[in-house]
Amino acid sequence: METKFKRTAMCGSLRANDIGNEVVLNGWVAKERNLGALIFIDLRDATGISQVVVRKEETPDLYELAEDIRGEFVIAVRGIVSERESKNPNMDTGDIEILATEIKVLDKAKTTPIYVKDDDNVSETMRLKYRYLDLRKQSMQKNLRLRAKTAKVIRDFLYENDFVEVETPFLTNPTPEGARDYLVPSRVNEQKFYALPQSPQQLKQMLMVGGVDRYYQIVKCFRDEDLRANRQPEFTQVDIEMSFVDMEDVIEVNEKLVQRVFKEIKGIDLEIPFKRMSYEEAMDLYGVDKPDLRFGFELKDIAYAFRETSFGVFKSAIDEGKVIKAINIGEYESEYSRKKIDKLTDFVKDYGAKGLIWIKFHDGEMSSSISKFLNENEVEEVKKIFGIDKNGLVFIVADEADIANASLGNLRVKIAKDMDLIDNENYNILWITDFPMFEYSEEEKRYTAKHHPFTKPVQEDIEFMSTEPERCKAMAYDLVINGDEIGGGSIRINNSELQNKVFEALKLTDDEIEKKFGYFIEALSYGTPPHGGIAYGFDRLIMLLAGTDNIKDVIAFPKTQSATCLLTGAPSPVGKEQLEELHIELRNNG
Ligand code: AMO
Repeated sequence: METKFKRTAMCGSLRANDIGNEVVLNGWVAKERNLGALIFIDLRDATGISQVVVRKEETPDLYELAEDIRGEFVIAVRGIVSERESKNPNMDTGDIEILATEIKVLDKAKTTPIYVKDDDNVSETMRLKYRYLDLRKQSMQKNLRLRAKTAKVIRDFLYENDFVEVETPFLTNPTPEGARDYLVPSRVNEQKFYALPQSPQQLKQMLMVGGVDRYYQIVKCFRDEDLRANRQPEFTQVDIEMSFVDMEDVIEVNEKLVQRVFKEIKGIDLEIPFKRMSYEEAMDLYGVDKPDLRFGFELKDIAYAFRETSFGVFKSAIDEGKVIKAINIGEYESEYSRKKIDKLTDFVKDYGAKGLIWIKFHDGEMSSSISKFLNENEVEEVKKIFGIDKNGLVFIVADEADIANASLGNLRVKIAKDMDLIDNENYNILWITDFPMFEYSEEEKRYTAKHHPFTKPVQEDIEFMSTEPERCKAMAYDLVINGDEIGGGSIRINNSELQNKVFEALKLTDDEIEKKFGYFIEALSYGTPPHGGIAYGFDRLIMLLAGTDNIKDVIAFPKTQSATCLLTGAPSPVGKEQLEELHIELRNNG
């Protein structure tokens, strides 16, 4: 590039105090307007936009050249920073414009398939297919920079606190984090596969056995699972592990880390220690283990009010040991017509509820989807439970506890969002603790580890591990911010016998334990420090800091709902030769 066209300033950086200076800007043409005597060019680079003016009378040759310039051309502009006649208070550089004296076209551009504008309203498919154009948008540039800065703040903090950044391999053996593995066939080891790590869990523990003391890594993890707005098949964790610690030590250093991030990125002073809530309380009151406490609508068990009910659904729920749980959305009742309530019924069905029963109180008048089954006493009890005077709308689900909780827990959030009750500038942070060690998997017909099988059970519960696994609590904790699980961790088992017992409680045979975890159990037997740690969902943290509810907004090259990359076309078929080398034969090849 010619030296005289090398940039001397950035498009987003010029202000009134630069007026009179000569500058060279490099960038993309965001917009071009030909007003006859003048041509305005909005020039964009990674930092922002500056307006360039080309005057016909003063620079006729330049004007001629500028007439052929189109959107997304890459150009260099030399010119004088001048005061704008009509200032634009909506632009950072709105006080100035560049009076062009020379322009060089560095590269032309075809008409782009999407506009490079934050409010272009184009489909996500187009955004992902033309991601390199989408990335030129100011919002995307901002998010990438926010992500980079947050990573730096985290690294600085952890470095200051004696954590060592250690990389762990991607070609490894499976890590049980509850999802399916992405497998990589080995060419040189016929019929064998690596698994991409769902997390570096076992390896970070090996680092503790290896005397590293304090480890961290900002690392890619791979999980083949159903994708949602806050999930990607490959995502990034801030993964942390510490030796010679208990739960309080891990929590303390992590609160300071989160505090530092919020201070440096958002300028917000978070108060520590953060609030804590047990898993049981979260499930009881909010129906989920990641409650958002920025609004009310707490769940209540109202079975007592219906102890003598003749209504079949309630009666059988009580007889069968199910629950009757409900929320009241108070004064928002008038916003919910029957039609709207029907939509909410469809919503809870996604969480397994068979229906959504409602009782409405409007200026003291009661109406209900089950009015003919309700007697006065029951209605009064429900009013009393929720403290309803004149207005209220109670939604009820009678079902297994997990279905009622999931339905109402998610309904509560939906209604708060629909009613615009959530203040997104307000950060609600809490630890969820006292998780169960095991949960029953209907699919696998056995108990599985709720966190992962390396988590230490609470000492007094160890004796129940094999006989009453549901009684056993784990030394695990999740960090929840604004209703999203931002991180999770635990204190680990540091003793090979106990580790073996947990595998046995998970009904792994000796052979399976030996095959999958033999090396791990052996490692624990050579002197393992008490240790524990946590992993944050880095993408989720950035979503929160960027104020977006779409994980794709904070990842440069994200995957679609069906785990494809629309830019590169991955995944793609491979040729016969390559498959043969890998000793793989496809069932429906070609
Ligand atoms: P866990 O499985 O809870 O713990 O993962 C830690 C955090 O990672 C984030 N996360 C995801 N983010 C985006 N897309 C996904 N598919 C995805 N899956 C998880 C969440 C979650 O809280 N090894 C343990 C940590 C430990 O015990 O130290 C682990 O991986 O924010």
